[in-house]
Amino acid sequence: MSNMLEAKGINFAYPSVNVLSDVDISVQAHESHVVIGPNGAGKTTLFKVLSGEMFPQSGKVWYNGEDVTGLDAWERVQRGIGRTFQVARLFAEQSVLNNVVLALECRERIKGTSHGAWWRLHSSRELVDEAMSRLAQYGLAVRSEDEAANLSHGDKKRLELLMTLALNPKLIMLDEPTAGMAPDDRRSVVEMINRLREDEGLTLLLTEHDMEVVFGLATRLTVMNQGQVVASGDPETVRRDPMVHEIYFGKGGSHA
Ligand SMILES: Nc1ncnc2c1ncn2[C@@H]1O[C@H](COP(=O)(O)OP(=O)(O)O)[C@@H](O)[C@H]1O
Ligand SMILES: [Mg+2]
Repeated sequence: MSNMLEAKGINFAYPSVNVLSDVDISVQAHESHVVIGPNGAGKTTLFKVLSGEMFPQSGKVWYNGEDVTGLDAWERVQRGIGRTFQVARLFAEQSVLNNVVLALECRERIKGTSHGAWWRLHSSRELVDEAMSRLAQYGLAVRSEDEAANLSHGDKKRLELLMTLALNPKLIMLDEPTAGMAPDDRRSVVEMINRLREDEGLTLLLTEHDMEVVFGLATRLTVMNQGQVVASGDPETVRRDPMVHEIYFGKGGSHA
């Protein structure tokens, strides 16, 4: 298998604190790669470096073999790296349907087939139909006329994922996609993430705290602690790693 996204020797420091020390990570096509580790381990910082939101002091990032270390976030999106945020980024006062239509409009603009101000909704019938069928595919069509602000946490996350999908990513990065969710919402988000990989052939890179979620979707795990990668491998191997138990799961291993 070839590496889709790869980072080597990543060092990142804020002015007063060193956050990432010599981090290596490789994500292969079609895996659900979950980065776990205690709060403050550097997971979100690593995601920002991989997505181009921040630049490392040293180290390199490749996407499908291309050195993207110097590219900004938008250029990485254009190459196929999508991402969602810990708090879903939606047009809260727009309908669910309009949110997806806006994302599809954005795709058309990137392709150069549509022009004008991005915020002016003047979509073709085809885009509206496409948005409806994407909503239907993931059980959100019944909510199409609702204001996005009124959705549950889980449906907001699923809508955000649909909007990310509109840009045709090959890899989607999700930072704590189930944070703060009730169990039902959490399950529906996990189910959608698994479908993205199994049905749509996408590659996923996630961070996650909830161990049930982690083992419900991970095909590979990377464990971070204090800015370093301390283990990486298939979930069962990582689960049995004594050092991981000590650092992450606690000495009694009560969470794993
Ligand atoms: N903007 C910032 N300025 C200074 N330090 C920060 C900033 N953001 C995060 N940190 C620090 O970087 C470390 C790693 O944070 P983060 O990447 O958010 O970890 P995680 O996502 O694993 O919880 C923490 O010690 C955090 O306090
Ligand atoms: Mg974080």
